[in-house]
Amino acid sequence: KRKVGILTAGGDSPGLNAAIRGFGKTAIGHYGMELIGFRDGITGLVHNRHIPLDGAALSGILTIGGTILGTSRDKVHRIQIDGEVRDMVPAVIENYEKEGLDCLVLLGGGGTAKNALRLQRAGLNVLTLPKTIDNDIAMTDTSFGFATATEIATEAIDRVHSTAHSHHRIILTEIMGHRAGWLALAAGLAGGADVILIPEIPYSVQKVAETIEARTARGSSFSVIAVAEGARDLDDAADYQAAQLLAKAAKTSEGTRAAKQHLANVEDGQREHTFRLARQLEAATGLESRVTILGYVQRGGTPCAADRLLATRLGAAAADLIAQGESGYMVAARGEGTEAVPLADVAGKVKIVPPEHDWIAAARKVGTGFGD
Ligand code: F6P
Repeated sequence: KRKVGILTAGGDSPGLNAAIRGFGKTAIGHYGMELIGFRDGITGLVHNRHIPLDGAALSGILTIGGTILGTSRDKVHRIQIDGEVRDMVPAVIENYEKEGLDCLVLLGGGGTAKNALRLQRAGLNVLTLPKTIDNDIAMTDTSFGFATATEIATEAIDRVHSTAHSHHRIILTEIMGHRAGWLALAAGLAGGADVILIPEIPYSVQKVAETIEARTARGSSFSVIAVAEGARDLDDAADYQAAQLLAKAAKTSEGTRAAKQHLANVEDGQREHTFRLARQLEAATGLESRVTILGYVQRGGTPCAADRLLATRLGAAAADLIAQGESGYMVAARGEGTEAVPLADVAGKVKIVPPEHDWIAAARKVGTGFGD
């Protein structure tokens, strides 16, 4: 009888429980495997904290937000234990063997794939499933969580329109997405935002103000702007790019640490950019400007049907792979099917929005500004 461990890592995302259920029901019911769930992501794996997952545990979780297993952002080779940073790969190998596991399934994004690849290279059998609201995982059409977050952010844009037009205001809606603009772009397009600002297209405040003034001249004295949390104006983008280049060029481990810290400081310093832009636009256009940060509302609550469907079929496909004795892959979504992609092609990679992407082209055609 095959025994499999499963865990959820990284930020929580709608569809995690649907994926646990899809995988678990297939693994247990269809293939007769045994399943345990590690608590709180990599942390539980390192400390061997787990719960048995049987039919009863998997029942009734399809529609529940978050993850029944808990999650964390820990890295397997750098975990804080008793005030010390330690490489816990050997501890994980020990736990894997002690539990008699045949495979470990990790639900997460690019960072989780990095952890998974490390474990695969250390000799364990692992698979990952693509989860994130950011849609930024390489080599997969999409990831579960993104469709739900898009629905939520779109509804938010719809709703702020009421106040924007009633009060003749500019409302900047800040949308998650980490370093990629997928979520802001999708929700901005679906919600009919007048301007969409994403990290892939650095903006000029002047150009954004011009788009708003052109609307005022046409009789629309309000605007709604979808701002990705990672969007930057031209100056910030230049600072950020320079810091990124420094981090890439660093040669010594000390140099790398210092350059990474500098990059993190630059990122931190740019975190309030949406509020700054609101002040700049108010000064430039004379229209009252307000900010709405969507925050964790975007990743909370029940997954939409598309995410339940995706999570279930990816989960079932992962169980198929284990039954065939396969490992070392992310189970990717490809069209209406799935595809096993080698972990090395996914680990640590970030899929950003290409400038020629169809969604950007469509948005431009309907008159959306990008501030460029
Ligand atoms: O990756 C999902 C995400 O929600 C990103 O959009 C965001 O940048 C990040 O996680 C927020 O992370 P945390 O949970 O650490 O606040």
